[in-house]
Amino acid sequence: MDMGMEDFHGKHERVEIYRDERSGLVAIVAIHSTRLGPAAGGCRRWQYSDVHAARLDALRLSEGMTYKNALAAIPFGGGKSVIMADGDPRPCAGQLYQFATWLNELEGDYLTAEDVGMGTVEMRTMAAISPHVFGLGLDGAGGDPSPHTAYGVFLGLKAAVRHKLGVDDLRGVRVAVQGLGAVGMSLCELLAASGADLRVTDIDMQRVVQAQQRFSASGVAPDMLLNEPADVFAPCALGGVVTEDVAHNLDVSVVAGAANNQLATPAAGEILAGRGVVYAPDFVINAAGVISVAYEILSQREHFAHARECWVGKRIHGISARLHDILTTADARACSTERVARQMALKIVESGSADSAIAA
Ligand code: NAI
Repeated sequence: MDMGMEDFHGKHERVEIYRDERSGLVAIVAIHSTRLGPAAGGCRRWQYSDVHAARLDALRLSEGMTYKNALAAIPFGGGKSVIMADGDPRPCAGQLYQFATWLNELEGDYLTAEDVGMGTVEMRTMAAISPHVFGLGLDGAGGDPSPHTAYGVFLGLKAAVRHKLGVDDLRGVRVAVQGLGAVGMSLCELLAASGADLRVTDIDMQRVVQAQQRFSASGVAPDMLLNEPADVFAPCALGGVVTEDVAHNLDVSVVAGAANNQLATPAAGEILAGRGVVYAPDFVINAAGVISVAYEILSQREHFAHARECWVGKRIHGISARLHDILTTADARACSTERVARQMALKIVESGSADSAIAA
């Protein structure tokens, strides 16, 4: 079967909206594709304006996971879940129990781990009820995927800088980081150690102060970072930050960060390409976390006898080469890097085997 881009885009295999009156939990699980294996993708807890906004986020994020997992050469399809946050900073035990029970009803078609608003603690609580929960950090397994994600983003950012600016060395390269959470802060650490000149922002001022102290970064107000001239813009907060307007006005050479769905529309990607701004597609360079979690899942299976360092390392280090391939192809075709990356991912999905990504 030949799946055209349009056929595949937005076509989800399964979308469930769950509500539990007792605990007040409202959650959505979106399974975009299981062609390469069970759908794998984190669980996000966020304050959405309404259930439609939450559903839309789950749909977009799960589709992105299909592309991410395929390009990362891991045998999983794309899925994502979102929990509508109430006023509490963390989900209560009753909500975690309920969510894990719903996961069991999906019988392994969807496997989850942490995302924004959910951490190792929540995953461990749910894992006591459901075998479909990962990112636990037990017995030397991957645990929190964030440091891995940050490292993969770092490699991708360096590859994009090399492509655009022709330098291997990040010393003096100005990087504007938006979002100093689990990934953003680790990324800053790697960038600072490489001599990058950091300007940072977060809606949580304490994190900005921390980055200023730890990395001699310049703090910028959240609404000002997008106007900040820099060599690299690294979005590490939430998605949709590169609108068409932003794409027209960003004063940077490279966009490379961790946030999922950075482009608000495909047209934003075309605008960046037209202006010669190199965009490292998020689902290509932020895959290291899910690669680490994939190993955690696979190592529980029989007949999986690969050493962690080798299996995970090969895929994470593959991010640079994969991105290089995408950037040069996009240059040759004069189109957006995201379009090229999606097409490459689709080919892998169509082949039915994630292994084809390694040779590709
Ligand atoms: P996090 O929740 O630990 O950090 C997000 C940070 O962004 C927080 O410090 C928050 O205050 C800040 N923030 C939110 N809105 C902001 C705004 N408008 N301006 C400035 N700062 C803002 O999340 P985490 O885990 O660091 O993830 C960051 C992004 O990377 C998310 O989009 C996530 O989906 C994506 N991602 C994370 C992975 C992981 O392994 N944690 C894997 C792949 C993608």
